[in-house]
Amino acid sequence: MPITWTPDLDTGITVIDQQHMRIVDYINTLESANIGGIKDVVGRTLDELVDYTVSHFAFEESLQEEAGYQFCKPHRKVHELFIRRINEYVGRFRAGEDIASELHTLLSAWLINHIRRDDADYVAAVKANMVDLIAEKERKKDRGWLSRFFR
Ligand SMILES: [Fe+2]
Ligand SMILES: [Fe+2]
Repeated sequence: MPITWTPDLDTGITVIDQQHMRIVDYINTLESANIGGIKDVVGRTLDELVDYTVSHFAFEESLQEEAGYQFCKPHRKVHELFIRRINEYVGRFRAGEDIASELHTLLSAWLINHIRRDDADYVAAVKANMVDLIAEKERKKDRGWLSRFFR
């Protein structure tokens, strides 16, 4: 069954939500390619899914680090283990095994669970850091304006 995006999956950080939605799209494409029995599309979608997920993870990890999120190390570990697991499936697929449906089940369950639990947990820290960064920028802008005024 395709994953439908529901509001409870929103983290509240737009750029993250857009990336999660794109991963969901890949998972859904994988499912329909598998149902249609189109092996090249399954292979291509798997590659794109892994690439995109790796860059999403790297993006999340850098946001977390920048925000000083206290669980950024364990979160990174969870990402690493997941990618390792997915790559094992990709290897089996390349060896000719029919793994798409098993992998699809794992992907759907893992992603939904990870978004709801692990990703939801870093949102407050990252958002607070974003607010600080914006405030800092505004302060600099004000200083610029003040210095121009008194010149
Ligand atoms: Fe995520
Ligand atoms: Fe994550």
